[in-house]
Amino acid sequence: MNKKIFDKINLGGIEVNNRIVRSATGELMADSNGYVTDKLINMYDELCQGNIGLIITGLTEVVKGTQTHTLMKIHDDSYIEGLKKLTDSVHEKNNKIVVQLVHHGAQIHGNPDYIPYSPSGVGDEGAAFKPKEISKEEIKKIVEDFGDGALRAKKAGFDGVQIHGAHGYFFSRFLTPYYNRRNDEYGGSIENRILIILEAYENIRSKCGEDFPIFIKMNSSDFAEKDGLTFEDSKKAAKIFAKVGFDAIEISGGNLRGKCSPVRSGIKTTEDEGYHKEYADSIAKEIDIPVILVGGFRSLDVIEEALENTSIEAISMCRPFIREPKLITRWIDGETQKSKCVSCNKCFNPRGTSCIFNKN
Ligand SMILES: Cc1cc2nc3c(=O)[nH]c(=O)nc-3n(C[C@H](O)[C@H](O)[C@H](O)COP(=O)(O)O)c2cc1C
Repeated sequence: MNKKIFDKINLGGIEVNNRIVRSATGELMADSNGYVTDKLINMYDELCQGNIGLIITGLTEVVKGTQTHTLMKIHDDSYIEGLKKLTDSVHEKNNKIVVQLVHHGAQIHGNPDYIPYSPSGVGDEGAAFKPKEISKEEIKKIVEDFGDGALRAKKAGFDGVQIHGAHGYFFSRFLTPYYNRRNDEYGGSIENRILIILEAYENIRSKCGEDFPIFIKMNSSDFAEKDGLTFEDSKKAAKIFAKVGFDAIEISGGNLRGKCSPVRSGIKTTEDEGYHKEYADSIAKEIDIPVILVGGFRSLDVIEEALENTSIEAISMCRPFIREPKLITRWIDGETQKSKCVSCNKCFNPRGTSCIFNKN
C-alpha cells in the first residue's frame, strides 16, 4: 500500500486524521498530587490546534504512593474528573487522545521516602537508593493497578491507553536481563520476562472490554554493552504482543544503561533522523498490528520516505511538538521547512516541559 502522511486511517482501533502521532511527553504540569491543572489543559489546547493525528499523554502513574513530582496520576477515582476535563477539551477540538500508563518503579528522581520495587532488587549505579525485589503478591497488585488505571482512563473518556514498556521504567526492567535476574516464571527467557506485561494486558482487557484500544511502547533494543534487551528478543516480544491482542506497538529504544538514549541529542542531518527505523520496519514486516515509530524525525520528506518505503503505519514525534505545537499545520499549509527543534534536550524542565527557544 502506498502510504501517505495525510491519509485518514484507523490506527489500532482509533480513527485518526493523519499518520502523525505525538509521542508521550511528560508534561510536569499537574499539581503536586498529580491532578490535572489549567496549565496542562492549555498546553494540550495548543497541541490540538496543530492537526496531529493522535496525541499520547505523558507518562501517568497507576500505582499509589509513587513519587513523580508534577506528572499526572491515575491511581484512584478522584483523578477521573480532571482527566475528563482534559479529554473533553481535546475532543471538542476534534482530536484523539490516548493516555500513557506507567509504573515508574525505581526510575524516579531524587531520594524517595519509600523503597521502590524492581524485578530483582538491582538498581542503578550512583542512585540514591537501592530498590527492593518485588514479590509475586506485589506483582499481582501492580497488574491490578494497571487494569484499574485503564478503566479509569476509559471512564475519563480517553480513546485508548498505552502501556509504557520502554526506557527503563518498571515494565521495561522486566525485559532487561541486567535488572531481571529472577528464577521464577517472571524471569529467564523473553517469554517469561514479558509475562508481567501480558498479565497487565489481560487485566486491562477484562476490565475495559474487547474494543478498547490498548497500545504498548517498547524498546527495539536497550543498546547496552551487556545484559540489555536485544533486538532479537524485542522482536519475539513484539510478535507475542501482536498475537495476544495489543492494538498497536510504538517502537523506541535505549535506557539509562544504554549506549544510546531514547532521546538522542544533536540531530542535524537527515541521516540522523528516524534512528529506530530499521528495527521498527523489521518488526512491522512480521506482525499484523500497526507499528508506530519514534525517534528523531524532523523533516517532512524523511517522514514521507519512511512511510512510503517501510511497513511502518505511523510516525511519532515528541520534541518537535514542544518547540512547535503547530508543526503539522505549518506543513499542511505548504511551509515545509523541517522542525525548528535542535534536539538540545533543554526541554526537560521541572517547572513544566517547554522549549528554551520559546520564551515569551
Ligand atoms: C521532555 C520529554 C519528556 C518525555 N516524556 C516521555 C514520556 O512521558 N513517556 C515516553 O514514553 N517517552 C517520553 N519521552 C521520550 C519521547 O516520547 C521520544 O521517545 C523521544 O523524545 C524521541 O523522539 P523525538 O526525537 O521526536 O523527541 C520524553 C522526551 C522528552 C524530551
